Amino acid sequence: MGQVKLIVSNWKMNLDSKQATRLITNLKKLKKIHPNFKNIICPQFMLIPLVSRLINQNQIILGSQDCHYINEGAYTGDTSIKLLKENNCKYVIIGHSERRHNHKETDSIVRKKVEHVLLNKLKPIVCVGESLKQRKSNKYKYILKKQLNNCIPTNQNHIVIAYEPIWSIGSGLVPTLNEINEIYSLTKLFLRNNKKIKDFYFLYGGSVNSENFKKILDNTDVDGALIGGASLNFKEIKKILTKS
Ligand code: 13P
Repeated sequence: MGQVKLIVSNWKMNLDSKQATRLITNLKKLKKIHPNFKNIICPQFMLIPLVSRLINQNQIILGSQDCHYINEGAYTGDTSIKLLKENNCKYVIIGHSERRHNHKETDSIVRKKVEHVLLNKLKPIVCVGESLKQRKSNKYKYILKKQLNNCIPTNQNHIVIAYEPIWSIGSGLVPTLNEINEIYSLTKLFLRNNKKIKDFYFLYGGSVNSENFKKILDNTDVDGALIGGASLNFKEIKKILTKS
């Protein structure tokens, strides 16, 4: 989308309070974060108030890993956007494949969440991605277009799309640079023609580390990354954020 790159840490269900405090303390000391990089951290819900208190918001931006699409009510175990806002969250990851798989989140639930997040003036990071079977059977383009069609509302410039092939998450397998760019072009064309969206952020996620990150950022059209495992390791995330 432009100069600004979004480096999104998805801590998933990792880190306790002590470990999170240590990681944030180290991140706050980082002096040479690349000037165009936004450092966005999405901790577990229970860690959000702690991380919110620890960060300096000019340096680290807070996000969550999910939220409900209803303001409040009888939704045991869910989290409202009101509380996310109270705790200074600016971004919300929506429709991660782990939520789609483990919590049976459908495209229509994802769409409701995306609309709710936008209505509340936070920024959704909408995850799409195909399984290995879908990639091998050459159905991946169809699957991705279907997800984009079902999950993304029209006329929402600046929306964040995270392309996370399911076969790449935590596996060490990463698509080639050409494969990433193919999905970028598909997304760009689809959003322009079908959703009236010209400007959007396109993130890549899946086994990102400091080594492959540089190659991906320098040789594809991505606007950043959604990072799981490597975001928990200070040395790795430091290299990514400082592009060293
Ligand atoms: P890994 O970086 O651990 O493969 O996880 C990717 C991911 O699911 C980020 O949302």
